[in-house]
Amino acid sequence: MLVLGIESSCDETALALVDDSGVRAAVISSQADIHALFGGVVPELASREHARLIGPLLDSLFRQADLGDDPWKAIDRIAVTRGPGLMGSLLVGVAFAKSLALAHDIPLIGVDHLQGHLLAADLENSIVWPALGVLISGGHTHLYRMDGPVDMTVLGKTIDDAAGEACDKFAKAAGLPYPGGALLDALGKKGTADPHLFPRPYTHNDNLDFSFSGLKTAGALWLSQHPHAHFPAGDTPARERLDLASQELCDAAASYLLAIAETLTIKAERAMHLFTPKSIVVAGGVAANSVVRKTFADLAEKKHIPLFIPRLSLCGDNAVMIARAGWHMAKAGRVHDLSLSAIPRGQVIPQDWKPFGHALP
Ligand code: KG4
Ligand code: ZN
Repeated sequence: MLVLGIESSCDETALALVDDSGVRAAVISSQADIHALFGGVVPELASREHARLIGPLLDSLFRQADLGDDPWKAIDRIAVTRGPGLMGSLLVGVAFAKSLALAHDIPLIGVDHLQGHLLAADLENSIVWPALGVLISGGHTHLYRMDGPVDMTVLGKTIDDAAGEACDKFAKAAGLPYPGGALLDALGKKGTADPHLFPRPYTHNDNLDFSFSGLKTAGALWLSQHPHAHFPAGDTPARERLDLASQELCDAAASYLLAIAETLTIKAERAMHLFTPKSIVVAGGVAANSVVRKTFADLAEKKHIPLFIPRLSLCGDNAVMIARAGWHMAKAGRVHDLSLSAIPRGQVIPQDWKPFGHALP
């Protein structure tokens, strides 16, 4: 089974081919440098870039995969991110996937971007079910009960900011460019965390939801009280000048990231009272964070269960995870027809798949 995966939900345009034995080919183009000029993703620019790049990227994917004279004969399913994400960006990928499916008579599969993230770790090592899923990205912070690759239930989620957003906002207020999460991680590695500097927000309750807005405010307050600790402004990219960061800022970055990681593990451990997972899955852009990886490795060790975290290149948005999620849906006999809709952030992804063999309208 060979699946073409397409991802365009935010500011990465990506395509991948995944088969039963793993990744056949993958291409990705990030727009981060364009959006960095504006301090965040500009939706209109994002969709235009997707539309400009998606065709040429498909050509380079096929060159990489070397599928012979007619690559379409080799492809069994086309899987595309249908949401959640930026509507204009999603529509580029969904319309592209639909036209390819129609032109080449290949069944279409709409993938939930968040479930795609959670299945990225399943490529290198098969996840052990049931698993506790922790999805931490720029826009989402979700806890899942994962009974299987196409059977996931949300147990809790953030009621305001996502973990990635909390990282990006602190980094921006400290003078680092967008997206600041990875740079904050680099600063934190040079610092020593003070576990008492920042709160573990919204943990003194008995639910599984998150709220990072209080932590964001505590971070902003600390930065306003320590203006001399800010990252020095300059023309050259900050990642080339990380050595200029004050020790005080590095220590604060380490403390802030520890607060985020421990808040996540407090709720993850609480979710284990609801059911007994046989593994923990951590995924999404923030799963690349070194403090998060270490804190969850400690939790998994304490619980004597394996931890599945994608390798760094598969934590952020990519099409490999979408192709893998599509591969699992195909194995479960699920497809969509050409009425597949794109779903923006904040709306529930409908369970509107059809059994394979269903006649197209
Ligand atoms: O999953 P993702 O690539 O896109 C979304 O679907 O949102 O996640 C992006 C988020 C951004 O907030 C980015 O700053 C954060 O992941 N991120 C990190 C790290 N690498 C990416 N946050 C903390 N530490 C990192 N190493
Ligand atoms: Zn994502």
